Formats: sequence, C-alpha cells, structure tokens
Amino acid sequence: MAEHVSHSEADTEAIGAAFAWRLSVGAVVLLDGPLGAGKTAFVRGMARGLDAHPGDVSSPTFTLLQEYAGMITLYHADLYRLTPREVEELGLLDVSAEGILAVEWPERWTSPPKDAIRVTIAKIDDETRAINMGGHGGP
Ligand SMILES: Nc1ncnc2c1ncn2[C@@H]1O[C@H](COP(=O)(O)OP(=O)(O)O)[C@@H](O)[C@H]1O
Ligand SMILES: [Mg+2]
Repeated sequence: MAEHVSHSEADTEAIGAAFAWRLSVGAVVLLDGPLGAGKTAFVRGMARGLDAHPGDVSSPTFTLLQEYAGMITLYHADLYRLTPREVEELGLLDVSAEGILAVEWPERWTSPPKDAIRVTIAKIDDETRAINMGGHGGP
C-alpha cells in the first residue's frame, strides 16, 4: 500500500491524477476519510488524469452519479445522503462495468466488489493529508 503526503488541495488532485493512470475499465475505488478530507478533490484529480470531463446533464441521476466522459469514463458517486435502498437503485456494479467508479462514503454500499481499491485520506492538519492507496477494498 502506497502512502503519499499532500500539502495542498492541488497536491491531492495531482496524486489522484497519477493514481488514475494505472486504472482500467472495471476498477472500483472506495474513498474513505472524514468530511473535508479531500475525497472530492482526489476524484477531480482522477478525472484530470484520465482527461475526462463532465458530460451533459441529461441523466436523472446526475446529482447522485456524476459522469466524466473521456477515453475511459469516470463515474463518481457520493453516497453520503443516500439510504441503502437508494444506493441499491444506483446499480453501482453495473455502472462500474462501463468505466472507472469512484465512491465517497462507500460504507453506505452494502456489497462493494471484493477487488475494489481502497483509498484512505487522513487529515493531519489544516493543509496536510496522508493518502493511502491500493489497500484491499473488501471488509
Ligand atoms: N491537502 C489537501 N488536500 C485536499 N483538500 C485540502 C487540502 N488542504 C486543505 N484542503 C481543503 O479541504 C477541503 C476538501 O474538500 P473536499 O475535497 O470536498 O473533501 P471531501 O470530499 O473529503 O469532503 C477543501 O476545502 C480544500 O481546499
Ligand atoms: Mg466529497
């Protein structure tokens, strides 16, 4: 498991970008860390690394499942406010087969794939974060 220290939001985005390069279609990334850790910043970096950009806003689940279109599509789900039933309805397993899936608050997902990649971001101080990548995602 690789640990990186980030000293800024831009650092976290760059670490996310470099991390995303090694992923391929079907990869599921589960992001752990408290509110304000930088999970969303990390995913923004992943999108940049994949040269993927927000698509049109036609999907009804747009706010629940953000889609970045690129060579590989990046899907970003934030499960923070969702009930287990709503999470079920998102069909994240099917989604993940179509591209790379990054999930914030993955503990709301009852049965994530066993081979998911775990990324954990810990707040050290206002600007410093410890980012651990590549741990096994399963329980
Ligand atoms: N090293 C860092 N990495 C990421 N975000 C940082 C860092 N230092 C400070 N921040 C701030 O922390 C907040 C992270 O927000 P966000 O990415 O939305 O977190 P989360 O999705 O984990 O709740 C932003 O306001 C950002 O400016
Ligand atoms: Mg977030």
